[in-house]
Amino acid sequence: MENLVLIGYMGSGKTTVGKTLAKLMQFSFVDTDEMIEKQQNKTIREIFAADGEQAFRDLETDLLKQLVAEKRKHLVLSTGGGMPLRAENQKLLSKLGLVVYLKAEPETIYHRVKNDTKRPLLQCENPFAAIKEMIDVRNPVYEEAAAQIVQVNACHQVEIAEQIKRQYLQYSNSSARQLNV
Ligand code: S3P
Repeated sequence: MENLVLIGYMGSGKTTVGKTLAKLMQFSFVDTDEMIEKQQNKTIREIFAADGEQAFRDLETDLLKQLVAEKRKHLVLSTGGGMPLRAENQKLLSKLGLVVYLKAEPETIYHRVKNDTKRPLLQCENPFAAIKEMIDVRNPVYEEAAAQIVQVNACHQVEIAEQIKRQYLQYSNSSARQLNV
C-alpha cells in the first residue's frame, strides 16, 4: 500500500485530517477537487452549473485513472464525497492505496457545512434533510469501498490523523509479513 486514500461525505474532514496526516507521514497531500479545478480552470460550482454532475463524475474517473497510471507514491489523497459512487472508481481507489472512510453523523456534517456555498449538492432548501438522505444512501457504498473505517464525530483532527497513521502502519506491517511467508 503506497498511498493513503480518504473517502467520506462532504464535511467529514478529508481535507483537514488529510493535511495533518500528510505531515505526520511525510507524504504529499493531494485533493481531487482541487486538482480537477486546476485542470479545468473552473470551480466545482462552475463545472456543475455549466456541464452537469455527470460531466464532473467523468472528470473524477479520468483523474483517478491518471493517478493510477502515474504510479505515484507517498500521497495522502483527499477525494470528493461522491468519488466512490461509481464501482469503477472504487477499484481505482483501492489500486491507489489504503482506502479509509471518515464516517460522520448527519448532525456533525450539517454543523460543519451549513454556511458553505461551494458545494452545489447542498445549495437547497433543506440541507439537513438532503444530507441525511444522501448519507443513508452513501454509507453502505463508503463502507464497501473502504478497507478501514474511522468514526470522526467527537474526535479532533490530530487524533484522527494519528489513528489513521497507526492503522496504516499496522496494515503495511501485516502485509509485509504475509509477503515473507
Ligand atoms: C461532492 C463532494 C464535493 C465535490 C462535489 C460533489 C459529493 O467534495 O466533489 O461538490 O458528491 O459529495 P467534498 O467532499 O470535498 O466536499
